[in-house]
Amino acid sequence: MTAPEPDLIGRTCVVTGASGGIGMHVAIGLARMGATVAIVCRNRARGETAVARISAEGRSESVSLFLADFAELGQVRRVAEQLRQRLPAIHVLVNNVGGAGAKASIGPDGVETTFLVNHLAPFLLTNLLQDRLTADAPARVVTVASRAHVRTTLDFDDLDSAKAYSTFRAYARSKLANVLFNRELARRLTGTGVTATCCHPGVVATGIWDLGFPFSLIMPLAKLWMIAPEEGADTPLWLASAPEVEGASGGYYDRRKPVPVAPQGADDAAAKRLWDVSAHMVGLG
Ligand SMILES: NC(=O)c1ccc[n+]([C@@H]2O[C@H](COP(=O)([O-])OP(=O)(O)OC[C@H]3O[C@@H](n4cnc5c(N)ncnc54)[C@H](OP(=O)(O)O)[C@@H]3O)[C@@H](O)[C@H]2O)c1
Repeated sequence: MTAPEPDLIGRTCVVTGASGGIGMHVAIGLARMGATVAIVCRNRARGETAVARISAEGRSESVSLFLADFAELGQVRRVAEQLRQRLPAIHVLVNNVGGAGAKASIGPDGVETTFLVNHLAPFLLTNLLQDRLTADAPARVVTVASRAHVRTTLDFDDLDSAKAYSTFRAYARSKLANVLFNRELARRLTGTGVTATCCHPGVVATGIWDLGFPFSLIMPLAKLWMIAPEEGADTPLWLASAPEVEGASGGYYDRRKPVPVAPQGADDAAAKRLWDVSAHMVGLG
């Protein structure tokens, strides 16, 4: 027998990157549980379509759209301020935005985009919302990482992989950064009533694989073997809502089970160093 869905009436949840893929289904799941849902998207039209679907499929009293392109730290700062001002509380932050770039691209902040969007932007957003989460505790931060983290290491002389770019290296490093971020965040949040967990959602048939030529030659076939976005949303949604994980912090989960991270993801010194370097890069240090 499956457990009844948690009741999230009165809880406010922020999901980034909910215009499609895993994030939209996390947001739908939270709305079905009655949460007030705020989604952060970069494209107004896709965001409005997502709000309509999340509202129609859920039983939330409020589903709202906030706009920010995570490839610009200024936009992350602006949306953090809007979330702080407009939401009654913040009980759950799901750091889901993510992507991979077929080619290297350096944005206005002077950082390669994959590392910026996947790590620095959620790092900054979480930091800017941390006092609200703490004030509204019990609260949860869930970061959608990836098993891709096992196949790489960080290079502190080339954190954003700009010097030696490959799509996979940049993506895997950004996901290792998610794992280390989660580790250090959980340590820093000890005793606050705010938990930090991260997960691998599975290999999921979403837009993240639409990287153009030559990937387009194999992806339609490869996607047939991947799980659907609804299924990929299951573990992050569970981490965001399930009573069973109330109070659990610091873990990395796959299919609702805590699993060990790769040794390079369990390196406390690297986690602390990455935190300090990231804080400096986003102007918090
Ligand atoms: N799919 C997988 O197999 C897999 C495996 C492991 C981990 N993950 C992780 O799961 C998370 C969700 O990915 P997904 O698979 O659901 O991919 P997706 O369908 O491409 O969704 C990514 C979401 O992030 C948004 N986004 C991307 N770049 C952005 C930016 N610069 N600013 C604001 N929003 C941006 C996208 O918005 P647009 O609609 O505007 O593009 C979309 O809403 C990512 O963190 C990814 O690393 C995925």
